[in-house]
Amino acid sequence: VILTQDELKKIAAYKAVEYVESGMVLGLGTGSTAKHAVDRIGELLRQGKLKNIVGIPTSKKTHEQAVSLGIPLSDLDSHPVLDLAIDGADEVDPYLNLVKGRGGSLLREKMVEGACKKFVVIVDETKLVEYLGGSGLAMPVEIIPFCWKFTAQRLQDLFEDSGCVAKLRTFGEKGEPFVTDNGNYIVDLYFKKDIGDLKIASDAILRLAGVVEHGMFLDMATTVIIAGELGVAVKNK
Ligand code: A5P
Repeated sequence: VILTQDELKKIAAYKAVEYVESGMVLGLGTGSTAKHAVDRIGELLRQGKLKNIVGIPTSKKTHEQAVSLGIPLSDLDSHPVLDLAIDGADEVDPYLNLVKGRGGSLLREKMVEGACKKFVVIVDETKLVEYLGGSGLAMPVEIIPFCWKFTAQRLQDLFEDSGCVAKLRTFGEKGEPFVTDNGNYIVDLYFKKDIGDLKIASDAILRLAGVVEHGMFLDMATTVIIAGELGVAVKNK
C-alpha cells in the first residue's frame, strides 16, 4: 500500500496523541499535520477517554478548530507552564532542530512551545533534512511592517555568504503582503548554501531591529515522530 502524505501526517499525529494524559495543559500546534492531532484530542475528549484537558492554541486558526471540537481553551497568561505541546514542522535536522512557520504561525508557536515541559514534533519523512535551510524551501522571519524592505535587505545581507535571497511573503493575485495573527509581515529566506552555526545565525537575526522572531526552533523539540512508508520512527532528545 502506498500511503499519501496526508495519511502519513495523520499516523504521526495519532502516535503523538498517545503521549496526552487527562488533566494536562496542552499546546495545540498549527498546520496540516497538527490539525490531525487536534482532531484526535477532540475525539478522545468526546469519547470520555481524555478528561480535564486545557488547550493553548498556537494560532487563530487552531483556536477556531479547537472551539469547534469543544476543547476547553486558555492562554499563556493563565498557564505559563504547559505539560506538552504537539506540532508539525517544515524541516527537522539530525539534532532535532526545526524550521517552522511556513504556515505563518511561528511567533505564537515559539512562545507556547518554549513554555512546555515536553514538545513532540510530528512529521512525515519528507521533512527530514541534513541541515536547516537544506530543503531549499523558505526559512521564515516575522518582521514588523514598518519599512519592511529595509529589514528584508538587512536579513539578506546578513547571509550574503550563503547566497541568501529574502522575499516578502504575499498572497493572492495582487501580491498583497501576508499578515500574521500578530499583524506582522513574513520575510522568507532562501539559501544556496549551509548557513553554518545556527545559534550564531539565530542571534544575528534577532539582533536586527524590525525583526520579531524567526522560524528556527533550536534545541526545543524533546521528541520527533516521523511517519514514513516503512513505519513510524520516534527520536528522543
Ligand atoms: C505553522 O506556522 C508551521 O510552523 C507549521 O507547524 C509547519 O509549517 C508544518 O505545517 P504542515 O504540517 O502543514 O506541513
